[in-house]
Amino acid sequence: MTIATQTVREIALENPASIRVFEQFGIDYCCGGRIPLDEACANRSLAISEVIAALEKASKEPVAQADEWASASLSELATHIVNTHHAYVNRELPRLAQFAKKVVSRHGDTRPELPLIQAKVVELGEEMSQHQAKEELILFPHISRLEKAIHENKPKPEGCFGTVANPIAMMTREHDSAGALMAELRKLSHDFTPPVGACPTYHGFYTGLREFEQDLHQHIHLENNILFPRAIALEGSAA
Ligand SMILES: [Fe+2]
Ligand SMILES: [Fe+2]
Repeated sequence: MTIATQTVREIALENPASIRVFEQFGIDYCCGGRIPLDEACANRSLAISEVIAALEKASKEPVAQADEWASASLSELATHIVNTHHAYVNRELPRLAQFAKKVVSRHGDTRPELPLIQAKVVELGEEMSQHQAKEELILFPHISRLEKAIHENKPKPEGCFGTVANPIAMMTREHDSAGALMAELRKLSHDFTPPVGACPTYHGFYTGLREFEQDLHQHIHLENNILFPRAIALEGSAA
């Protein structure tokens, strides 16, 4: 198998340095990462040779910090996700919603995509706040209890949802939905590019959306590709 036919997700997992390259080219390596690299490049009209050259260069550079989470405890990883990424979402989405409101009120008449962008930002905010609450109140505490029980050689804790794979499947579907909303925001905003001569608020809004996408991809990568598979494997290893 060549790198072109490997899935984006596999490449991100094998080589965390590749994440920087995917961010640079706007390639989704989390929810949308289940497709081969050549297909991901075609979808974004990117020259695959350029992406592969950047991946090869990145693989020779120092290892990205995402790698450290492959060996940390699941409880530490969940705490990191909540303190870093959930906190960022809680802080940033209301700010982006305010930006959207302002930009629509000033430029919505001449830029028909702006009200659509505003509606997607609101939808994303509603989805993410419910999603994160489920992780913080149900799934992550269960994973921590499971890890502790196994460490102490005690029976596995009972979840009201059967196997841990069930809530994980639900969270993964919700990640797909958030990732799809983010992809629509990128498309509607022409890759987060404000029109020529746009005001500073417009620039600030699109820069905020671009940064939000990067954080969302890192966040979902840590959950889909590291925390969740390790939690399923841990549960399977218990008696
Ligand atoms: Fe999360
Ligand atoms: Fe999540």
